[in-house]
Formats: sequence, C-alpha cells, structure tokens
Amino acid sequence: MSELPIRPDAPWLAPLAGWSDLPFRLLCRELGAAVCCTEMVSAKGLVYGGRNTEELLATTSLEGDALEDGSSVCDHPLVVQIFGAEVEFMEQAVLILRHRGFSWFDVNMGCSVPKVTKTGAGAAMLRDVPGALRVAEAVIRAAGPGRVGFKIRLGWDEEHEVYLELARRLADLGAGWITLHPRHAVQGFSGRPRHSAVAELAHELSVPVIASGDLFTAADGVRTIRETGAASVMYARGALKNPAVFAEHGRLIAGGALEGDLPKGSGIACEEGRTLDAQHACDVLDDLPADSAALFAVIRRHAALARRYAPEHALLKMRTFVPRYVKNLDGARALRQEIVSCRSWDELDDILNRYLG
Ligand SMILES: Cc1cc2nc3c(=O)[nH]c(=O)nc-3n(C[C@H](O)[C@H](O)[C@H](O)COP(=O)(O)O)c2cc1C
Repeated sequence: MSELPIRPDAPWLAPLAGWSDLPFRLLCRELGAAVCCTEMVSAKGLVYGGRNTEELLATTSLEGDALEDGSSVCDHPLVVQIFGAEVEFMEQAVLILRHRGFSWFDVNMGCSVPKVTKTGAGAAMLRDVPGALRVAEAVIRAAGPGRVGFKIRLGWDEEHEVYLELARRLADLGAGWITLHPRHAVQGFSGRPRHSAVAELAHELSVPVIASGDLFTAADGVRTIRETGAASVMYARGALKNPAVFAEHGRLIAGGALEGDLPKGSGIACEEGRTLDAQHACDVLDDLPADSAALFAVIRRHAALARRYAPEHALLKMRTFVPRYVKNLDGARALRQEIVSCRSWDELDDILNRYLG
C-alpha cells in the first residue's frame, strides 16, 4: 500500500459536506489535488447501511475508470471522513470500510453544526478529550497506525482550548496526521483563523500537520505552509470557487514560492494524461475575463463528470457550482440566470454551448 502524500507540493481537497462528491473530487484531482476527502459520513449510518451513506462512498476502482470520452479518472488516494462519538460505531465503521477496500480515514472533530454536535460528535468531541481519545484509540486500532487523521479546531471556545494537548495525545496513539482549522467551535466560520496555532503544532508534533482555514487562493495556501511549517494544506471554500487553485498551488511551489516572494511565474507542466489543461486553467482563472476558454473547459468537464457519476442529484449541484465559477466573468449574469433554472442535462448542455461556444 503506497503512502499518502502529505507534502507542500501535494495540496488536499478538504472534506466538504454536500460538495466534495465524486465528480467534484475527480475534477479537483485533474487540476492538481493530491489527496481528496469524502464528505463526512456518519459511522452509525454506515453500520446500519443507509442509502445516503452509500452515495457518499461512491468512488472509482483503485486502478481508475475509463470514460466514454476516452479519458480515465481515478479517485485515489481517498480519505474517508467519518463522524460519530460512540466508540463501537466508529470502530465498526472503519472495519466495514476497510473490508470494502478503503485505506485512509479521517475523524471529524471540528464540525460545529448543531445537528452533529448535539450527538456529541464533530467539534463536541473537543469538550470531552478523554472520550475523543477513546474513539481515536478504537479507530486507529481498526485502521492501523498511520492510517487515520484527525481534523480538529482550537477548542470549543476561547476559555477551553485543547488543540495542543489533544493533538499530542492523538499523535502518541498513532494518528497519521492532524489537520487544524484554527478557530473555536463557537466561531463557526467567523473571525480570522489563528494560524500561529498551526505553527505551534507543526513544531511540537512528530506527525504531519495540515493547515485549514481561510485558504481562498493558492498564495494563501503556500504562504501558510511557509509561515507555519505545516506539511500541507487543505483547500475548502477556495476550491469550491476555483478548483484550479490546486494547479496554481503547484505552480507557485515549483516556481520557488516557499523560499522567496510569492511569484506568479510559470511553473509546472500538466501531468501527462490529464484531461484538463491545469496550467492554462489557473492562468485564466487568475485573470478573468481575458480568455475564458479554460474556465469553460473546467465547467464542461465538471458537468461531464457529474452527469457520468451522479446524474440524479448532480444537476442541482451544477446549478450552484456554475454560477460560482463564472462569478467574475463579464456578462455572466444572463448565463447564471439560465443555469439556476435549467431542468435537464440536455438543457444545461444547450445553455453552455450557447454561452461558451
Ligand atoms: C460547505 C462546507 C462543508 C464542510 N464540510 C465539512 C465536513 O464534512 N467535514 C469537515 O471536517 N469539515 C467540513 N468543512 C470545513 C472545511 O473542511 C474547512 O476546514 C473549513 O471550511 C475551513 O477552510 P476554508 O476557510 O478554507 O474554507 C466544511 C466547510 C464548508 C464551507
């Protein structure tokens, strides 16, 4: 089993409930995401075999899938994020996932949505460190040391910061990596993330630390790695707005951005076999609307992947994604209006053909 890349030049796609589905992950991978996380999956739902859970676990074969257009796609390495506060369900969930061929896992200790925290899961685990460690021990036992990461916040609130103690103990138990979104749970997404806490963890821990939080552009991500010593970063909302952020990240690092200024110069060549011209896409997305061809290629590719892998629900999601992608494009208002009300894939194709040529 190969190692999971956790390096500055290997940015991750964060878990994004409702968004980091198979088509979006494949799109991000073609644009340079080295590792992708699933949306969070309920351990209990997994053990009881809910239909929704199956959809969240949709992926390609390990070798990849050949598509009708002649391209091939591969959704690996993939990290399955699970949530739950009960030791038995969490352990059982990992055993089931392993049996089904999944190899890498992440435990959600950061989600602050009440639906999750009221069950004791997500960021509520920061309020019960001994309980969180019991879960961690069981999950690591089921997965194997080094195969589980933990995604945490600073603590529940300012008066109860636990990240340092918790992360140390998780590393001692055999965590493979720690991701820190350096806000308190009560903050949700408000205020600014305190990335100095990422630096503190990166300095203290023997396992890799991944930074998350307000990394909206590749320059944000690379600067955070440089200033904190984090092993890598996860792009979340930044990827939703611009999936070419991964290509730009690679380009900045290859151009020496970890040492000197953060240049915009050219860098990485596209990996062979990639369907999208990632290099071109990030140039263009940086500088809309000079040339929209690559942005349109991203949109078309996302639509094709969504139609292939999730035809039932993906159209609704595309109606949200596309307006976000074209937000900065001149004259995109009419396109946005048509997209948000389109009702079939054929209609979406028609609209894209009309606007994107
Ligand atoms: C729509 C949305 C869904 C998210 N879903 C998850 C999730 O399922 N699991 C998780 O650990 N974090 C989740 N997060 C948190 C992100 O992974 C990330 O840590 C957070 O957005 C901070 O990064 P950003 O400021 O760069 O977006 C979600 C965030 C957003 C905006």
